[in-house]
Amino acid sequence: MRVLIAKDYDELSEKAFEVMKDIIRSNPYAVLGLATGTTPLGLYRHMIEDHKAHGTSYAHIRTVNLDEYQGLPKNHNQSYAYFMRENLFRHLDIETSNTYIENGTAQDEQAECARYNKLLEELPRDIQLLGLGSNGHIAFNEPRTPFGSQTHVVDLTENTIKDNARLFSDISEVPKKAFTMGIKQIMQAKQILILASGANKADAVYKTVCGKVTEEVPASVLQLHPNCILIADKEAASKL
Ligand code: GLP
Repeated sequence: MRVLIAKDYDELSEKAFEVMKDIIRSNPYAVLGLATGTTPLGLYRHMIEDHKAHGTSYAHIRTVNLDEYQGLPKNHNQSYAYFMRENLFRHLDIETSNTYIENGTAQDEQAECARYNKLLEELPRDIQLLGLGSNGHIAFNEPRTPFGSQTHVVDLTENTIKDNARLFSDISEVPKKAFTMGIKQIMQAKQILILASGANKADAVYKTVCGKVTEEVPASVLQLHPNCILIADKEAASKL
């Protein structure tokens, strides 16, 4: 794993954009694995600015997202489908039909997971962007998720519900379950870019980079990926 330390969140976002830009400019047909959360927002702003200033086109780009809350329809303002549309897609020339995410309201959960597994097989990702949960989760793969997991429905941990409550008006509104891409599928991306910002991620960053590879810390599996870059700002890297 290559580790880059940025002086602050702005520099982290610039460095992340350098990595993403290389992929998009060298292959206009690239498949991007994308992530939600507050950490990638700076990177997404750079992608939008670059598209507007330099005309970098997403007309043939396809995207696959990591996860979606169970029970939230795609037009709910806390759904990850809505997040992606508002914070990235609607500002680019990407075709909505080329953007994929789990259907949070699928009645048949198993069928939805199978559909997503098939899609991931058909769309090998050139890069997978990841945030990092403060407990070391990636996507919604919570501690003790088997490294061999594929798309599945998870019960979110109390820790994750608490972390994510800041984006809802009340903690009781945070869904308790989510669909998530599995760890095996995250590892299948050709390249991985994981971003971490802020002091509350310092412990997880330390365990991801220096800890033992264990299902207790899902992100530690990334030590085994042949092409993984972790970019942390100073605060998130403070325990390294
Ligand atoms: C959520 C998402 C993850 C994300 C994590 C960190 O749980 N499912 O994909 O990486 O939160 O979010 P943030 O970047 O807001 O700290």
